[in-house]
Amino acid sequence: MKTDHAPSSVRALTVHAPRAPLSGSVHVPGDKSISHRSLMFAALARGTTHITGLLEGEDVLRTADAMRALGADITREGAGQWRVQGCGLDGLREPADVLDMGNSGTAARLLSGILASHGFTSVMTGDASLRGRPMKRVTDPLAATGATFLSRQGGRLPLAIAGNANPPPLAYRLPVASAQVKSAVLLAGLNAVGETRVEEPVATRDHTENMLRHFGAQVRVEPMGAGGRVIMLQGRPDLVARDIVVPGDPSSAAFVLVAALLVPGSTVTVRGVGLNPLRTGLFTSLREMGAELAISNERVEGGEPVGDLTATAGALHGVDVPATRAPSMIDEYPVLAVAAAHATGQSRFRGLEELRVKESDRLAATVALLEANGIRVDVVGDDMIVHGTGGTIPGGGLVATRMDHRLAMSAIVMGLAARKPVSVDDTAFIDTSFPGFVALMNSIGAGLAA
Ligand code: S3P
Repeated sequence: MKTDHAPSSVRALTVHAPRAPLSGSVHVPGDKSISHRSLMFAALARGTTHITGLLEGEDVLRTADAMRALGADITREGAGQWRVQGCGLDGLREPADVLDMGNSGTAARLLSGILASHGFTSVMTGDASLRGRPMKRVTDPLAATGATFLSRQGGRLPLAIAGNANPPPLAYRLPVASAQVKSAVLLAGLNAVGETRVEEPVATRDHTENMLRHFGAQVRVEPMGAGGRVIMLQGRPDLVARDIVVPGDPSSAAFVLVAALLVPGSTVTVRGVGLNPLRTGLFTSLREMGAELAISNERVEGGEPVGDLTATAGALHGVDVPATRAPSMIDEYPVLAVAAAHATGQSRFRGLEELRVKESDRLAATVALLEANGIRVDVVGDDMIVHGTGGTIPGGGLVATRMDHRLAMSAIVMGLAARKPVSVDDTAFIDTSFPGFVALMNSIGAGLAA
């Protein structure tokens, strides 16, 4: 099933360590989580929203297509500049065809929440990776809205949703730390009369809460237990269009910064990176490893903290990352594992169960990435233990990226820091979140073949 935004062909790559240090100052594309939400929420608001810095990766383009199919008028006005004419809450219309969410779990799960509380039927599908990912985690709580879901076995896509335009407000305690599940329940609550309540035992990224508030919704957040939160959304808000500035994606900056930390002599700055504290666990962990990672020019843009990050190469040592930090760096473990392979001594990453249900089984895929390149790794329960080499990653392996953009970029970073070249079977999926990654890396001296 190839559609407009699917990676069109396999792109293999062999990565050699560069002859000279990496250096330069770059911008990475807009935050993926914030980009999806800006298109969806603007489509639900009254009036015209202008978005600056939207990520134009395939995942987000799927969301744009889906919101268009649901009735929003969405136009690209320039690079990263988008205009959305919203339909107003309850104003979406039944799509004429299947909604294809491509590779994007965020798009599929958040949209399920929106569609559950609209009085029409829609069908959602995705690529082979997304069709293998669990949707029951959203359809289980959303069933209490009165919507009906019909899926393949195990709650897999394709998924048909017959929504209920008058849902009751839900009260739900998250059984897994997932911003996508939290967001799906909150979004279903937009059309409910009364207060929707979500309890999360560990705080996850709060872009949904922040952006709904930005559009005028009443969202209250209270602390719960050690590190948890309760989020309360008042239903049927008057969502009014407001402009959005999307910060650079810290999850994309991660690859550039770790490459700079590992290639000897490098200094690289990534400007305008989102620094929401619920996204910065990687930077904390890298600093604990002894990384020189400086933040400058801290400011607030579009309601999110933003700064410039400068990474300077140097020796790293092993780190013990607690499970409670996982939600704030859930997408960064593959690249942190590469840094740990380079470091001196052992690293332990605790509580990685959620990694098994990402674009690939990222726990297994990260282990395979390291082992193929001569690194010893153990998995004990849900913990990963990486035996560092003190700067001498052997390399020489072939990495299977399993339709997973972050695996592909982590493999490239590993190749830049390894003694023998690292081969990557397919880099095409990088376009889902970081279009232009290879060119950007070359602009700082990576010397990757086109
Ligand atoms: C995201 C939440 C995380 C993350 C994903 C984006 C979001 O997923 O891995 O890349 O935008 O809400 P989970 O909610 O499944 O942890």
